[in-house]
Amino acid sequence: MPKRALITGITGQDGSYLAEQLLGEGLEVFGMVRRSSTETFERIAHLRDRVTLVQADLLDQTSVIRALQRAEPQEVYNLAAQSFVPTSFEQPELTAQYTALGVTRMLEGIRAVDKRIRFYQASSSEMFGKVRESPQSERTPFHPRSPYAVAKAYGHFMTVNYRESYGLFACSGILFNHESPRRGLEFVTRKITDGVARIKHGLARELRLGNLDARRDWGFAGDYVRMMVAMLRQDRPDDYVVASGETHSVRELCQIAFARAGLDWERHVVVDASFIRPAEVDLLVGDPAKAGRELGWQPTVDFRGLVEMMVDADLARIGQAVARRELRH
Ligand code: NAP
Ligand code: GDD
Repeated sequence: MPKRALITGITGQDGSYLAEQLLGEGLEVFGMVRRSSTETFERIAHLRDRVTLVQADLLDQTSVIRALQRAEPQEVYNLAAQSFVPTSFEQPELTAQYTALGVTRMLEGIRAVDKRIRFYQASSSEMFGKVRESPQSERTPFHPRSPYAVAKAYGHFMTVNYRESYGLFACSGILFNHESPRRGLEFVTRKITDGVARIKHGLARELRLGNLDARRDWGFAGDYVRMMVAMLRQDRPDDYVVASGETHSVRELCQIAFARAGLDWERHVVVDASFIRPAEVDLLVGDPAKAGRELGWQPTVDFRGLVEMMVDADLARIGQAVARRELRH
């Protein structure tokens, strides 16, 4: 019988790449999806006949237990979360329910159903927040700067605690920002590459952004999901930073993205104070040495390659929509 994996958040960016990765390795893949009046399966449309979708919600402990009983997985990847930082300032309580307590519900579900299940928790470099040192490693203290980051820090420590208290094979992947053509449109990389494509095709003239000085350590999501799997295939559970080790500003991102389409970013980008956050994370840069040593971490796409891949994909997508008259000037 093939090994089985359950992915929460399979309809998100990372869930879709991880499902491809696990199917490619011959696993049977189950995806946990929440009920919605319209389907949100666009990112996994090409996989629909190869994955089994199970309805459950991180807010509902019983549904989580039933999903685990139904899938009988050997591996669980907990990717579901309210993942957009600005929304966490608007909806702090809901963010805590999904992003923090959702982790406890998954861990409790595993304790109840099968303690041998290996568990991956999607932790975040946002936990470093107002950074105490650079680059940030597994040993860097956390100083979260948003309700999202606070919720992720809770999920991280619950994962560590269930490993230490109950002997669960539970790993926390502290992943730095990772992007792709499947990234949600509100995140800054995709907002910029989608904006570039709209301007290039004459659908818009300006792009309104917030803090252009913020710096992030950006990589390609397809590379990062391989490390989630690698963590669960180790002999011992542990926590790992996954990052490129480089940092770039939003301004640099604009320069490269607009130039790829033959545009001058300074003629189109407008700074709009409404996108400035109540508390900002100014600088993230990760130290992935441990992942390199123990998991063989080697990203295949660099920063410029990532931005150009995303611009090219959005130019093609918007161009086709214009040609089909789905989008009009
Ligand atoms: P994403 O695209 O926003 O996907 C989030 C997923 O969570 C979606 O499938 C969403 O389902 C699901 N979800 C949200 N609330 C749920 C609930 N109550 N019950 C069940 N499912 C729920 O996020 P991503 O970029 O793929 O990131 C995956 C995970 O890694 C997240 O936990 C994120 O916080 C974390 N992370 C991401 C990055 C990054 O740079 N991408 C870095 C570090 C950590 P719907 O389709 O129904 O909305
Ligand atoms: N979204 C957005 N929109 N961000 C902007 C904008 C804008 O118009 N203008 C400037 N920025 C800046 C933000 O202030 C932030 O400093 C940076 O761009 C990146 O913002 P996002 O792309 O929204 O990502 P994030 O870093 O807040 O969070 C992402 O990465 C985390 C890992 O560090 C998310 O994927 C989180 O879920 C993830 O944990």
